[in-house]
Amino acid sequence: METKILSAKDVNEAAEILKMGGIVAIPTETVYGLAADAFNEDAIRKIFIAKGRPSDNPLIVHISSIDEIYGLVQEVTPEAIKLANAFWPGPLTIILKKSKVILDIISGGLDTVAIRMPAHRIAKKIIKETKTPLVAPSANLSGRPSPTKVEHVALDLKGKIDAIVDAGTCNIGVESTVISLCEKIPTVFRPGAITIEQLESVLGKVEFDSAVINRLDENSKPISPGLKYKHYAPNVKLIILDGNQKQYLDYINNNEANKVAALCFEEDAKNLKIPFATYGKEVDPLLQAEKLFDALRKLDNMKNIDLVYARCPAKSGVGLAVYNRLIRAAGFNIINL
Ligand code: TXA
Ligand code: MG
Repeated sequence: METKILSAKDVNEAAEILKMGGIVAIPTETVYGLAADAFNEDAIRKIFIAKGRPSDNPLIVHISSIDEIYGLVQEVTPEAIKLANAFWPGPLTIILKKSKVILDIISGGLDTVAIRMPAHRIAKKIIKETKTPLVAPSANLSGRPSPTKVEHVALDLKGKIDAIVDAGTCNIGVESTVISLCEKIPTVFRPGAITIEQLESVLGKVEFDSAVINRLDENSKPISPGLKYKHYAPNVKLIILDGNQKQYLDYINNNEANKVAALCFEEDAKNLKIPFATYGKEVDPLLQAEKLFDALRKLDNMKNIDLVYARCPAKSGVGLAVYNRLIRAAGFNIINL
């Protein structure tokens, strides 16, 4: 299949392809998503095939105005209204009980549905122009880092999807915060740029699922299917070194070995004698989020590297989202310095 590369001017063409049942990678403020008409089962099936995605991993439905949520869920609860007013459009996905119109292929057998209203100008235009909500998982092969640039999408999916809309780099860089309003207490299934503290300022108490930062044991059933799959796995072995800059640099510089690289902050790099990729600065978790997936892909492309030592981010605020992605990439391998 030829994959057309479209630009921000070609919103109409992207919408036409989607209306005809095609699948198109579109920019959002978090990461690129692989979109299809949320009411077209055949089109949605193509997403699962192109990504190699397990069929029980449910999809997020993307809307372009708050009104659209009403048909998609059983009840727009008072909490949902508060969250939508505070954070939509933006990087927040809200899980509610689904209505009958939601296809089983979207919800992966659950009785809930995840809804998000993205803030990206082009994403909003494409949804509006298509005149239907769009499902859109991240536009990567299953198990690869989510794409923050068109090159990432092309590397994973060129030849397998109808088109990619190029709108440059996604500025948030990690996927949306996912919160479920179907638990006793609102529960965060995936941390993102909207922090737990921000959610609590609107809702009061918010839980976060322990699988967000801990390895799920083999037999337990995850609260969100996405938590059980290996994510963002680079081809090389990655180990997180949890400590301050001095401890990190000492550990690496005293354990010189072949075929080792670093995933570090910009300010660490000049003191290292091994190859490295940087992901932002220690004091700036937003920058870390923006750069992380690109850095993981850069490490994958390095020749002759089979081990990467990663600097550990702060585990609070937006840093929690960064940490959540990094520990999955590292298969929960952490050394406390
Ligand atoms: O920022 C984002 O959310 C991006 C952009 C493209 O919008 N999309 C995205 O989609 O990250 P995806 O499919 O890669 O991740 C969706 C996550 C998965 O971990 C999935 O298991 C979870 O949300 N999810 C979706 N629907 C759910 C539901 N009904 N219950 C529990 N978890 C759900
Ligand atoms: Mg994904």
